[in-house]
Amino acid sequence: MRLLVTGGAGFIGSNFVRLMLESHPGYEIINLDRLTYAGNLENLAGLENESRHQFIHGDICAVEIVHRILGRGVDAIINFAAESHVDRSILDAQDFVRTNVLGTLTLLDGARRNKTGRFIQVSTDEVYGSLGPSGSFTESSPLAPNSPYAASKASADLLVRSYHRTYGLPAIITRCSNNYGPYQFPEKLIPLLVTNALSGLPLPIYGDGLHVRDWIHVRDHCNAIDRVLHHGTPAEIYNIGARQEMPNLEIAKRILRALGKGEDLIAFVKDRPGHDRRYSIDPSKTERDLGWRPSIPFEQGLQATIDWYRQNPAWVEHVRSGEYVTYYERMYRQRHRTLSEL
Ligand code: NAD
Ligand code: TYD
Repeated sequence: MRLLVTGGAGFIGSNFVRLMLESHPGYEIINLDRLTYAGNLENLAGLENESRHQFIHGDICAVEIVHRILGRGVDAIINFAAESHVDRSILDAQDFVRTNVLGTLTLLDGARRNKTGRFIQVSTDEVYGSLGPSGSFTESSPLAPNSPYAASKASADLLVRSYHRTYGLPAIITRCSNNYGPYQFPEKLIPLLVTNALSGLPLPIYGDGLHVRDWIHVRDHCNAIDRVLHHGTPAEIYNIGARQEMPNLEIAKRILRALGKGEDLIAFVKDRPGHDRRYSIDPSKTERDLGWRPSIPFEQGLQATIDWYRQNPAWVEHVRSGEYVTYYERMYRQRHRTLSEL
C-alpha cells in the first residue's frame, strides 16, 4: 500500500509516519510537507535512509505537486497538514484559511481526478465549540467553531463531506481531542510547560486555569487513525478521545511535581480571546465500530512525555534557536529525490 501523508514533519504526522513504517512493513509513505515553522525534519530523524519513506518538500495548496504525486498511484491520503495553533489564528487567520481550507480542497480535487482510494481528513474536536460542565461531543453534535483555527477546520470538514456526497469520494473525517507526546512543538500547552519548567521559566496559564481539555497520547490517536484507514466506513465521522479531562492548572501542577519544582513558577496571564471553556469527546462509536481502545493512561503518558523532553535537550534547543530549519539541508536534500525527478 502506498500512502500520501501530508504534514508528516509535524507533531502528529511524524508520529504517524513512524507508527505506519513500524507496524506495516510492506507500506510505502510519501510525506508531503511545506516545512512551515511547525514542520521539523528532526521529528523524522533516523528515517533518512528508510527506502519506504520519501519526503517531499512541498505545499498541499500546489495543484501541480499534488497532481504529480497522486498521478504516481496512491492508495490513500491521510491529511495532517494544517496550521494548528489557536493563538496564531487569533493573530492572523490568512494562512489558516489557505492551508486548512484551500489546501484540503486541492487534495480533494487531486484525489477525485486521480481516483485515489481513501481520503482521511484529520480534524479536531474544536469544530464542535465549547461545552458547559457536563456532556460530551458526539459525531452528531452541531459544528460551532469559536476560533479562526476551528472555523478553518470545520470548513475543511464540510468540503470533505461535500466531495463524498457529490463525487462519491471515499472520504472519512476523524475528530480528535488534545494530543500530547514526543515531538510536539513547544508552543502548545504541555510541551511549553514542560520545557519552561525544565529551564526554570514561568509556566503561563491563561485566565483562571480552569479551562478543561480532554487529553490523548499521540500514539493512541495514531493507532485510531490506523484503524480508521483500514476499517472505517466512507462518509463516516469518528470521534477520537481517551476520556481524560483535566483543567490546565492541574496539568501545570502535575508537571511541576514530576520535575520537583515549586508551584511559584505558575504565572497566570491574560486569557485568550474567545477561549473555549471545556472540550469533551465521546469516542464510543469509534470504540464500538472499529474495536479501537486508547491504551495510555494520562499519568503514564505525561511522565513519558516529560522524560522525552528531558532526554532530548538538543531537539528542544534546535527548536528554540531555529537550528532545526537547516536539518533539511544537512540531512535530507542529498538523499531524497526532488519533485522534478518524480
Ligand atoms: P503541527 O502544527 O505540529 O504540524 C503541521 C504540519 O503541517 C507541519 O509539519 C507543517 O509544516 C505542515 N504544513 C503546514 N502547512 C502546510 C502546507 N500548506 N502544505 C504542506 N504541509 C503543511 O500540527 P499537529 O499538532 O501535528 O496536527 C496535525 C493535524 O491534526 C492538524 O490537521 C490538526 O488540525 C489535527 N489535530 C491536532 C490536534 C492536536 O492536539 N495537536 C488534535 C486534533 C486534531
Ligand atoms: P493549546 O495547547 O494551545 O491547545 P488548544 O487551544 O487547541 O486546546 O492549549 C490547551 C489549553 O491550554 C487551552 O485551554 C489554552 C491553554 N494554554 C495556557 O493556559 N497557556 C499557554 O501558554 C497555552 C499555549 C495554552
